[in-house]
Order: sequence, then structure tokens, then C-alpha cells
Amino acid sequence: MEIFVYYTPESTPDNGYPDCVVAIDVLRATSTIITALHNGAQSVKAYGDMDLLTQESELLPPNVRLRLGERGGKKVDFCDLGNSPLDCTPEVVAGKHIFMSTTNGTRTLQKAKGASVVLVGAIINFQAVVDYLQKHQPHKVWLVASGWEGGYSLEDAVCAGAIASSFFSLDNPHNGKAKVGNDEVIAAISLYQQWQHRLLDLFKLSSHGQRLLNLGLEEDLKYCAQKNITRILPIQTETGIVVYHD
Ligand code: MLT
Repeated sequence: MEIFVYYTPESTPDNGYPDCVVAIDVLRATSTIITALHNGAQSVKAYGDMDLLTQESELLPPNVRLRLGERGGKKVDFCDLGNSPLDCTPEVVAGKHIFMSTTNGTRTLQKAKGASVVLVGAIINFQAVVDYLQKHQPHKVWLVASGWEGGYSLEDAVCAGAIASSFFSLDNPHNGKAKVGNDEVIAAISLYQQWQHRLLDLFKLSSHGQRLLNLGLEEDLKYCAQKNITRILPIQTETGIVVYHD
């Protein structure tokens, strides 16, 4: 297995998908997807484009669909939900098909959709990602962070580091359980090693963490900073659609 980290969807190579992509958007899209599936949602479909989301969601009756939309951290007006994992309670999401569009996270899923296996990772489930990779040993793996509008984000980088840390030790990274694909892997592990016991503090320092704090969403940061509170590992079954995988 060879592991690569990319800090934005824009910096991933344009040609040649790997065997497995792990899409990461800790604040908050992938934390929300994982939580929705944990709480009984049937599926989550990611859209870059709101118009397409609206059109396709109309094909299902209102009692089995939910539209989830976020731009700039705020709920999109006509949607049922914004992008807070805390709103995805069993009462709200159980049995529902979720149609979702967010500023950055759903673009990462869109970008990843051609890979043979697409997984959804966050701090709340990273051990499930590690266990899947250890069990299935895909040849080439990309850990793709969503960042913010083309730029680096601390919270996604540290999650990539949490996953990669299980495969390499910084004492001898080129002699680990997998091959280091690029320098970003070492940088992500270093970040995780520095902050692994203070993830919430790191999130509060991050630019998107600051944006969410300014919107009064500190509880979302606290929730997303919890390590491995679920074993749910969303996996793509059809292009752009992820479902529960244990
Ligand atoms: C995104 O996709 O950019 C994020 O999930 C934004 C958010 O916190 O809602």
C-alpha cells in the first residue's frame, strides 16, 4: 500500500484515480455525513451544484428526502438542514435519503467519485478508516482534505495525519506498514503528533474554526473534535452516493 496526502481537492492529480480515496472535511461535511448515517439515514448524495440537487431530490417524495445545504458555514435558505452534525439526530434523519451540498466537502466527494473505493473520514471515525485500509490493503490510497476554497485547512490535515500515523512512525517513515507517497504524509503526521491531545484547541485556531465560532457554533467544533465516537465508515456504492458501512 502506498499512501498520499493531498491538502485540497484542487491539488490532487487530474489523471489516474487510485484504488481508494478517503474524503476528509472534518469541519463539517464528513463529520455530518458520518453522523447522519450513524443515526439511520439511508444514503447521502453529494452535489457541487444546488440546482441539480433540487431537481434530483424532487424525484423522491418529501417524507423520505432531506435537502442539506451550506454556504460559508450558514444553512442555505430553502434546505431542510444546514451542515451541523448536531442537527442530524435519529428523529430527523432516520430512513431518509439526504441530498447534500456544502462549500468544500461535497466538492471533494465529487472529485473522488471515479476511484474504485471512496470512503468518508473524519476525527469521529478515523480508526474505522485505518481498520478498513489495514484489512483491504488497497494498492494506492489518497487521503484528500477539503480545505477551504482551494486553501489548506488545519483540521483536515490533522485528520489525514491521524489516519497516516497508524502506518508510519516519524522515527523511520520509510520503513512503515505502507509506502510514503509524498512529503505531505510526513507533514500531516507531524501535525497530528503535535496536536493529538488538543484537537479542539487546534480547531479553534483554524480559520474555518474561527468562522464557525463567529457563527456561534462552538458545540459543532467540540463534537467534531471527538476521536472515534463511531465505527460507521461511509462508503460510495454508486457515483456520488455514500451509505453505511460497518
Ligand atoms: C464545507 O463543505 O466547506 C464545510 O463543511 C463547511 C461547513 O462547516 O459547513
